Parts: sequence; structure tokens; C-alpha cells
Amino acid sequence: MITKNRGSGAAVVIPSEGNWHKGSGGTGEEQTDRQYARNPCQIQQVQVDNAPILVRLEGMVEELAEAQSKPRIEAKFRKPTLNDGQSLWRMARDSQVLDLNSSYSYLLWSRDFSDTSVMATVDGEPAGFITGYMRPGEPDTLMVWQVAVDHEFRGRKLAAEMLDRLATQVRAERVETTITADNEASIRLFAGFASRREAPMEREPLFTAELYPDGHDTEYLYRIGPLT
Ligand SMILES: CC(C)(COP(=O)(O)OP(=O)(O)OC[C@H]1O[C@@H](n2cnc3c(N)ncnc32)[C@H](O)[C@@H]1OP(=O)(O)O)[C@@H](O)C(=O)NCCC(=O)NCCS
Repeated sequence: MITKNRGSGAAVVIPSEGNWHKGSGGTGEEQTDRQYARNPCQIQQVQVDNAPILVRLEGMVEELAEAQSKPRIEAKFRKPTLNDGQSLWRMARDSQVLDLNSSYSYLLWSRDFSDTSVMATVDGEPAGFITGYMRPGEPDTLMVWQVAVDHEFRGRKLAAEMLDRLATQVRAERVETTITADNEASIRLFAGFASRREAPMEREPLFTAELYPDGHDTEYLYRIGPLT
């Protein structure tokens, strides 16, 4: 999962219950965070590594409250087909957060990775998608590449439902994704999934900033599993 959000803090949302810990030693950048996701909804129990990130999280409370107050929406779910490639590209573009890949790549994905992807439609119109693949060296692990829900349908558990359905559809034993430290909605999406599956969630830096040619923020690897 690649996002365009900028910011240099190393922060992570830790589900509540106080039963999380960080490994000892190191700077926090290199170490693995492991926690059991039980109740990821308590914004006041979000833990951060430094103050600037905390300020930004506080600024998101209103948006979060609005997202949580919306009713669920009637949606249908299916695997994307070749004809959906352009809709995936459009939704990625309109998210204004995701790295927009070439239109060709979304067509390729719709052709070859349809079985490990899902899209949601509302009244027959594309409303969201998840693209993923089973890791070649670890075929029980679903790697989630991109998730997007159109603005008008956000906060109605569409992404959560797509993720639940996709993990079941591919019989994943583990789910992985990468998230930048400032993508609160995405972190909560995966923490919520771990909570529903009563699965542990680990985090560690994967694609660190120096690996990119273009000043991209560090993408943290989230590993969830084993799934129940
Ligand atoms: C991230 C995204 C896919 C979530 O879609 P969504 O359908 O609105 O999410 P859901 O309604 O299923 O909510 C999932 C969780 O995220 C939380 N959430 C949703 N919007 C949020 C926001 N703006 N801020 C903080 N948390 C948010 C929900 O409260 C829920 O957590 P909970 O179970 O603890 O209550 C959507 O915001 C989006 O498309 N963002 C732009 C693209 C992006 O960042 N993708 C992820 C990185 S690849």
C-alpha cells in the first residue's frame, strides 16, 4: 500500500487495553512493534512516538467522528474484471492520497490479480477497491497493495467489509500491507481487521525513506496473523 502522505514522524496507532509493548532497545525506527488488537476505536489511547504526529492526530478527531456516525451502505462486492481497470485507476487518482500508478498497471492487475482483489459497487457504480496478491514465497499471505473508497462512500465500513471478504475469499492465514505513519484511516482499517479476527498485529519499517528515489515517506510493514 503506497501513499503520498508526507511527514517524517515514526508513529503508530496501538489498539487499547494497554496490552501492547514495543521491543526494548533500538531507536524505535528499527524495532518491531507487536500488539494484540482488541479495541482500536479509542482515539485517546493512540500512542505516538513524537509530538508533531500527536498534533495531527488530534486534528483528525472531527473527521473521524463524522466517519463513524455514518450509516452503513448497501453495496455489492465482486472481483474486478478487465473493464474495471479504468475505474480502479480513477479511484486511485481521486483518492488524492494513493500513489497513482499507470493506467496500464490497473488493467494488468484486473487481468492477472483479479482473484486476489475485490471491488465494491453501489447502485452498479464503482465505489471502492482493494488490490492484493498472494506472496510468491509465502502463498498463505495476502499482501494488500492499494485500498481506496470514493469520498462520498467513506466512513460506512466499505473498506472494512472489502478487507473481510477478500481475506476470506483467498483463505489467507496472514495479511500484510504497508502504511505510512500518517495514514490514520488506513492504520485503523487494518487494526480493526486484526481485532475482528482476534489476531496479533506487528509493525516494522520496510521501505525506508532512503530506498526511494523521490523523497517518499517510510512505509511500515503491518503483519496480521495467524488469522482465526
Ligand atoms: C482508508 C480508506 C480506504 C478507508 O475507507 P472507509 O470505507 O472510509 O473505511 P471504513 O469505513 O471501513 O473504516 C475503517 C476504519 O477506519 C476508520 N476511519 C475511516 N475514516 C477515517 C478517518 N478519516 N480518520 C480516521 N479513521 C478513519 C474507521 O473509523 C474504521 O475504524 P474502526 O473500525 O476502528 O471504527 C479511505 O479513507 C480511503 O480511500 N483513503 C484514501 C486512500 C488510502 O489512504 N488508502 C489506504 C492506503 S493504500
